[in-house]
Amino acid sequence: MSKFYVTTPIYYVNDVPHLGHAYTTIAADVIARYKRLKGYEVFFLTGTDEHGQKIEKAAKAKGISPKELADSVVVNFKKLWERFNISYDHFIRTTDDYHERVVQEIFQRLYEKGDIYLGEYEGWYCTPCESFWSKSQLIEGKCCPDCGRPVERLKEKSYFFRLSTYQDKLLKFYEDNPDFVMPEFRMNEVKAFVKQGLEDISISRTTFRWGIPVPFDNEHVIYVWFDALFNYVSGIGYSTDQEKFEKFWPADLHIIGKDILRFHAIYWPAFLMAAGVEPPKRVFAHGWWTVEGRKMSKSLRNVVDPNRLIDAYGADAVRYFLMREVPFGLDGDFSHKALAHRINGDLANDLGNLLYRVLTMTIKYSDGVVPEPTEDRDRELENLCKKMIEDVDRYLDKQAFNRALESIWEVIRAANKYVDVKAPWSLYKENKREELGNVLYNLLETLRLVAVLLYPFMPVKMDEMLSQLGVESTPTVKDVAWGVLVPGTKVKKGKPLFPKLDEEEIAKKIEKEVKEAEKEEEKVEEISIEYFSKLKIVVAKVLEAERVPKTDRLIKLVLDVGSEKRTVVAGIGAWYEPQDLVGKKVLYLYNLKPRKLRGVLSQGMILAASKDDKLYLPEFPENTPVGAQVR
Ligand code: MSP
Repeated sequence: MSKFYVTTPIYYVNDVPHLGHAYTTIAADVIARYKRLKGYEVFFLTGTDEHGQKIEKAAKAKGISPKELADSVVVNFKKLWERFNISYDHFIRTTDDYHERVVQEIFQRLYEKGDIYLGEYEGWYCTPCESFWSKSQLIEGKCCPDCGRPVERLKEKSYFFRLSTYQDKLLKFYEDNPDFVMPEFRMNEVKAFVKQGLEDISISRTTFRWGIPVPFDNEHVIYVWFDALFNYVSGIGYSTDQEKFEKFWPADLHIIGKDILRFHAIYWPAFLMAAGVEPPKRVFAHGWWTVEGRKMSKSLRNVVDPNRLIDAYGADAVRYFLMREVPFGLDGDFSHKALAHRINGDLANDLGNLLYRVLTMTIKYSDGVVPEPTEDRDRELENLCKKMIEDVDRYLDKQAFNRALESIWEVIRAANKYVDVKAPWSLYKENKREELGNVLYNLLETLRLVAVLLYPFMPVKMDEMLSQLGVESTPTVKDVAWGVLVPGTKVKKGKPLFPKLDEEEIAKKIEKEVKEAEKEEEKVEEISIEYFSKLKIVVAKVLEAERVPKTDRLIKLVLDVGSEKRTVVAGIGAWYEPQDLVGKKVLYLYNLKPRKLRGVLSQGMILAASKDDKLYLPEFPENTPVGAQVR
């Protein structure tokens, strides 16, 4: 029996599950279910990524330990996957002891082999920000670009992975495996990146504790990505259940989002090459969802909270929509209106109605029993179905979920037309029993095959549909063929599979919510007078003004701020000419962190009012003294 091993990323536990997590996991589930249907022995792995500074900080903010935080968030993920009928075989947590052991074991081995070495992370360090900077990032070669304070030269010990020595091996691997990264345009991005040259990467940290300790050096914890990526092998028994590991490795498909491609397409195969393990066969990077035309911000997330979507539309309709609406690999927009439209159009009208019509006619004209077809029947639907079986297979092998669904809908539409053209009610009236039997058989068998191929996408609804067609068993590979429906099988009409929704009403309700969410985001925080008094805003006079070369919007100003001269880069070049500014009095925020803009250090900023793409600089009475402070 052939095997298929599919994975999702393991999700960080500093956040509750959102639409993006659901998307990746549903896609992996559809593949897992489809491969099982086709007779493969499937292993489907998902789980959670629980180490690292981010988790440590999130836990601290809640006043609990990182493990307590992880334990509580894991429950949310598991519950959601249950509601979506995600058929994973194992849920891995990076705090599981077997995983921690595998990561330590590999770290140790790569160290002994020389692929990991203790080096020095040398750079310019800003202690308040706990960040290293390179020389070119510093302001005037000496200040932190984040806070503006002076940095110090610091060396920190860190373990490094010799990524640089894998550059050529990786490029050769990409050449030999052109489908390693999909979609194709992402493979090109990865190649271009590697060709630019790879540097060794730091894979240990000493500034926090929440991680797997370096086995031979207790001061260091292992970098979270080194830890996390190895879940894909520890989760199927690497070094704990060798037989299982050998059966399922290499992974056939890692499904991930585009934001984490570099880790999966560059670091991961290099780590594996170093460990003497074959790289995975494919990494598919999907696109990102926006929500109602906007970036998925914190407050907009509620509008598409996966649990809420299931409550409103049902798990299967949501699964269908996510797989159908946008080509896998591209970005797309999630809107409730589009979802309701798909439910009403594709699911209720096209599919639901076809099932309803055919069952009604079978009950009326054939005593509710699948008729016996004859040899000389027409093969129109049969041929279309055979093509559909091949198309779905071809498309799902490329993770082209929407294309697979389109090819199923071509058949559904053809079957609806077939009913109209063949008009079984006339055949019945004209007493053409044989032809009527053939027509009904063709339709019932088409419906059965449609349900079988849609089963990986909508397992619960398709179970119901098959049951209405008199088929009670879960579909397996032998059911993916024409002619399986047994004449004499009793059908039973049930309630409509997909009830219709009021699209307008939904659109209105959501529009209101989105507006509220936007308001929520725009909400200005109340501040205290003490907070305000921290801002030092003074009247300044423009002494010099010139455009920053090669920009339209930036003007470099030299200001007299009363006590000293200051240089500011202001984004007002689209509204003002430099010569008109000289001699003008402006409002100046004195104590803003300095920042480098186009190579010029900007100290503070000048204030202006703006509305509808227009800009207004405040005017002052002639006698306003330079240095006068706004209070
Ligand atoms: N822990 C790492 C993965 C380690 S895998 C060895 C991680 N976790 S995550 O929780 O931040 O992200 C999980 C996934 O959610 C990513 O694949 C990311 O692309 C996906 N999405 C996050 N926001 C998304 C959208 N708005 N739309 C679609 N997917 C999005 O990264």
